[in-house]
Amino acid sequence: MPLRHLLLTGFLILGYSALGAQQAPTAEPVATATRVGPTSKPAASAAPAAAAQASKPSIELSAPREMGSVRFGILGDTGTGDRRQYEVGDLMTKAMQIFPFEFVIMLGDNIYGSERPQDFVKKFEKPYEGILSQKIPFYAALGNHDDPTQRYYKPFNMNGERFYTFKKGDARFFALDSNYMDQEQLKWIEEQLSRANDRWKIAFFHHPLYSSGARHGSEVDLRTRLEPLFVKYGVDIVFAGHEHFYERIVPQKGIYYFTQGGSAKLREGNIRVNSALTSKGFDTDNVFMVAELGKDFMQFQVISRRGKRVDSGSVPLMPEPKQADDKSRSQ
Ligand SMILES: [Fe+2]
Repeated sequence: MPLRHLLLTGFLILGYSALGAQQAPTAEPVATATRVGPTSKPAASAAPAAAAQASKPSIELSAPREMGSVRFGILGDTGTGDRRQYEVGDLMTKAMQIFPFEFVIMLGDNIYGSERPQDFVKKFEKPYEGILSQKIPFYAALGNHDDPTQRYYKPFNMNGERFYTFKKGDARFFALDSNYMDQEQLKWIEEQLSRANDRWKIAFFHHPLYSSGARHGSEVDLRTRLEPLFVKYGVDIVFAGHEHFYERIVPQKGIYYFTQGGSAKLREGNIRVNSALTSKGFDTDNVFMVAELGKDFMQFQVISRRGKRVDSGSVPLMPEPKQADDKSRSQ
């Protein structure tokens, strides 16, 4: 039995009007949230509620739950410049009113096709204008469609590096370039992981180590190189893209893997049916994801282009010290 269990939460499904933008995060235990039936009514009178509803987005999304948590958004395979990317961007902007994330990670394939200055406008700056205008930083990883010179594009916050790390609260993020997992990068990631004493260790890059995608599937070579380091140094969660759908993987060696490459392109029906790797899959619409890293749990929600919550849950933090607990993670 793995030490860590994913606690599916049956999150409260509420519209924004019932939650309110200023609602304080609740201390409600994640496993005891109550589903509200269609006839449940908020305590407030109907007229103000109706007026509020008219001006608020309709998104199945809960507010953050923990005071002081690290809140972020997750986008993958975004850079098409087409209608779907803009629709997801618009919805994610609205979602900030309910779930005010502080930054966004991008899982690669940030700009498809030509990469002229006007392409960065059309395929990044415009679709996420509402988020960027609120001074929310983006942190990008490079995908197979991305020119490595993207690392010099200021709004991607890569500081001229193919792979880099940054800290947010008590979480450390590691952005990798999975296109070229050479010795230099492997040495770097091992060094960085070994010296990191942050509560959370989160890795993100483009190619998924585990995937049920019929088109690509798991990147086994890459897994051979990275997984031993992730296990040894206690990486908690890994985000990847490349597959144009959403998939939450059955925990592997104590690590939780998410594939989120469906923020603009969609490979409909591509998740292999009955794959033993799939905890939850969604391949019928585009999505964005939000998450908060709390003291002991990461809460996540995945929202479709139509505002439906298609997955949510809670991932427990692995107890420290992580390195002394190697055996439990390699079940
Ligand atoms: Fe890709």
